[in-house]
Amino acid sequence: MNIRESVIQHFHTQFNRLPDYVVKAPGRVNLLGEHVDYNDGFVLPIAIDRATWLAFSANGTNVSHLVAKDLDQHCTFTIDSVRNKLDSEEKPLPGWAFYPGGVCWAAVKTGLACPGVNVVYSSNIPRGSGLSSSASVEMAFVLAWQTLAGWGLSPMERALLGQKAENQYVGVQSGIMDQFASACGEEDSILVLDCRSLDWHTIAIPANYAYIVADTMKSRRLRSGEYNKRRADCEEAVLLLSAYIPGLKSLRDVDIETFNQLACNLPERVEKRARHVVDEIHRTIEAIPLLEAGNLPAFGRLLNQGHVSLRDLYEVSTPELDIMVNLAQHIPGCLGARLTGAGFGGCTINIVEEEFATSFVASLTESYHTVTSITPDIYICHAAAGARLD
Ligand code: GLA
Repeated sequence: MNIRESVIQHFHTQFNRLPDYVVKAPGRVNLLGEHVDYNDGFVLPIAIDRATWLAFSANGTNVSHLVAKDLDQHCTFTIDSVRNKLDSEEKPLPGWAFYPGGVCWAAVKTGLACPGVNVVYSSNIPRGSGLSSSASVEMAFVLAWQTLAGWGLSPMERALLGQKAENQYVGVQSGIMDQFASACGEEDSILVLDCRSLDWHTIAIPANYAYIVADTMKSRRLRSGEYNKRRADCEEAVLLLSAYIPGLKSLRDVDIETFNQLACNLPERVEKRARHVVDEIHRTIEAIPLLEAGNLPAFGRLLNQGHVSLRDLYEVSTPELDIMVNLAQHIPGCLGARLTGAGFGGCTINIVEEEFATSFVASLTESYHTVTSITPDIYICHAAAGARLD
C-alpha cells in the first residue's frame, strides 16, 4: 500500500468515514546556496519525490483533531489553545504538533479562518535529515486549511505563512527556502530563488546526470540554538560592516574584494561565518549560467568548494557528513558532493554522471558502511511538483 492509500485507510479507521481530500507536499534538496537565504542570497533547491501526505475533512467544530500516523500519536487543539501552545485539554502541545499548530496560529494572526479539521498524515521524508520534512508538513497543512476555508493564497504566500509559523511559533529563525521549494516545486526543474526580491524562475534539470541524496543516518537533533546563532553572527557582521559601508542591509551587498579589505575589522568567528556567506552567494551566482549551459562538471566543483566552506567556515558539518562527502568525491562519475540543508547531521547531495549512478550508490553504501559501520540510505532523486491536492 502506498502512503496516500495508507493515510486514507487510517483516516477511515480513526474517523469512521472517508476523507474529503488528500494533499501532498514534497521535501526538498538544495543543490547550492546554503545558509544564504536569510542573507538575501540566491538558492537552487529542487522539490523531491519524497513527501508528506495528509488526508482531511472539515469536522464542523472548532477543535482540530490531528493524527500523526508515523509517530502513532494524536492531538487536539483549538485556535485559543494553540495560542498558548496547549492542546484542547490545556496540556502542552507535543513537539510534532508545533508545525500544524504554528500554521494555525500564523494563519489566525494574519486574519485567516482555520476551521476545525480531522487529519491523518504520514511522510516518507526522514525527519531531521535536512530534507525539510517540517516545511513539508507546514505546506501540507497550509494547503489543507486553504482548501477548507478558501483562502486563495498563492504558493509563495503560502510559503511565507509557513515561514512565519517556523520563525515565530516553532522558534527557528529559518529563511524562506524550504517552504518555498515545497510550495513552488516543479517537475524536472531546478528552482532559482532570489531571496531578497522573492523573484524566482526554473532551469530544466540537466539530463544525463543523477542527483543522488545520501543520508548519513545521523539525524540532526533540533539544533535551533546553533542555527539561530549562525544567523545572529551574520547580523553582527552586517552591523559591524555597516560602519564602513553606510546603509548596508545584508551580506548579499558585500562583494568578495570589499569583504577581504574589511574582514580584519570583524571578530574571528563572525568573519568566518560572513566569509562563507559572501563566497557562497558568489558561488551560487556563478552556478546559474553553468546549470543553464549544462556544464555540470564546473557546477560540481562549486559543490565541492561549498562543502569545504560549510565545514571550515560556517562549521555546520559533522564527522559523518565529512566522511560521506570525502568518500563520494573519490568514486568514479562523481562530479561534486556536499552536505545539503542546515547541516549538523542529515544528508549530502551528489551530482553523478548518469551511467555511473548505480555503481556510485553501491560503492558509497559499501564504503560508508566500512568506515562507520552505519548502513546509509542512498537514492537517486527526481525533481517533483510542489504541494497540491493529490
Ligand atoms: C534550513 C532552513 C533554511 C536554510 C537552510 C540552510 O533548512 O530552514 O531556511 O537556511 O537551513 O541553507
